[in-house]
Amino acid sequence: MSASIPAVVLGGTGYVAGELLRLLAGHPHFSLAAVMSDSQPGEAVATAFPHLASAYPGTVFASQAQVEQILCAAPESALFGAAPHGVSAALIDALLAAAEAAGTRPRVVDISADFRYRTPAAYAAVYQHEHGAPARLAQFTCAVPEHLGTLKTPHVAHPGCFATAILLASVPLLAAGLVTPSLFVSGVTGSTGSGRKPVPGTHHPLRHGDLYSYNPLRHRHAPEVVACAAAASGVTARCAFVPHSGAFARGIHVSVQAQLDRAVDTAAVIDALQRFYAHSPFVRVAPAAPRIKDVVASNYAHLSAVVADGTVAVQCAIDNLNKGAAGGAVQWMNRMFGLAEAAGLTAPAPGWT
Ligand SMILES: NC(=O)c1ccc[n+]([C@@H]2O[C@H](COP(=O)([O-])OP(=O)(O)OC[C@H]3O[C@@H](n4cnc5c(N)ncnc54)[C@H](OP(=O)(O)O)[C@@H]3O)[C@@H](O)[C@H]2O)c1
Repeated sequence: MSASIPAVVLGGTGYVAGELLRLLAGHPHFSLAAVMSDSQPGEAVATAFPHLASAYPGTVFASQAQVEQILCAAPESALFGAAPHGVSAALIDALLAAAEAAGTRPRVVDISADFRYRTPAAYAAVYQHEHGAPARLAQFTCAVPEHLGTLKTPHVAHPGCFATAILLASVPLLAAGLVTPSLFVSGVTGSTGSGRKPVPGTHHPLRHGDLYSYNPLRHRHAPEVVACAAAASGVTARCAFVPHSGAFARGIHVSVQAQLDRAVDTAAVIDALQRFYAHSPFVRVAPAAPRIKDVVASNYAHLSAVVADGTVAVQCAIDNLNKGAAGGAVQWMNRMFGLAEAAGLTAPAPGWT
């Protein structure tokens, strides 16, 4: 396919939007048509993201009305949602309604939690407020690209960053019937996982040199993991999840433990993971324990596994902003437009951050 498909980004000054802009700047087929900012329309993108100044020297943030005009004028476009949950659904619904009225067809990948649920009730049970666009839920599928062969809906809801790492680690084991359906997960995330607005949990003096859990066994993304894992593997598993805040800016490391359902050793589990991801360009399975430094700022996921005494521990390292959000979304959008799945995403991690 030739250049260039217009791409629109929502949630403009946020961390995920910034990562989307960075990836789109080097993409061979998508080009940025607009990045919407609710709070700073008209301001220079380079002011919010000085590291992107060379890629977007004259670009300013667009208003919702300007974005709407672009989506209504382009017969096809790629709409990336990176607004907060609770905001995203109504915003995307309004933009899609305008495009439908104009006869154009944006494809959406939303990175917020708003379209990850099948029913408004399931969403409201977790987020304690009504869904912003319940009639749109059926138009979205929630999955990591590695776990779904054929997309049957026009739009995609990208799983969260922790969910992406947990799903990559656990779905192959559940699908192969290797483990009992009870996952015990411990994960550590960097501070960019909490977004741009400073809060005590992201304040450098408090977070630096420290490690602590938050919302143990009550994290709001655990139900999403259960639902996505069931859709991808056919097995409904319990997920006991203890997230931690790590003293680094980017990256996620999770360990998923489960009881083995049959006698297999470490080599057999690694072999099963390698076969499962044999055609997944971004997933690397190796005997060595994965490290976040090897994947941070890239779309790659590194996996490994160890077996002892009837228990398996699978570890996964990803970048929360890239594979867990912007990169995974671009990977989906590549597929939705019939492009090579890896287009614009193959840059390796810097290694030293
Ligand atoms: N951070 C991660 O690692 C990560 C990973 C996976 C998924 N996600 C999800 O991705 C989304 C973005 O995350 P983030 O970390 O980039 O958050 P963020 O840094 O807080 O950015 C969100 C942006 O959304 C915009 N926004 C805020 N309130 C709005 C409103 N009322 N109406 C319209 N726009 C509004 C703001 O930008 P403007 O004012 O410029 O519009 C804000 O900067 C969230 O839904 C988050 O849950 C994040």
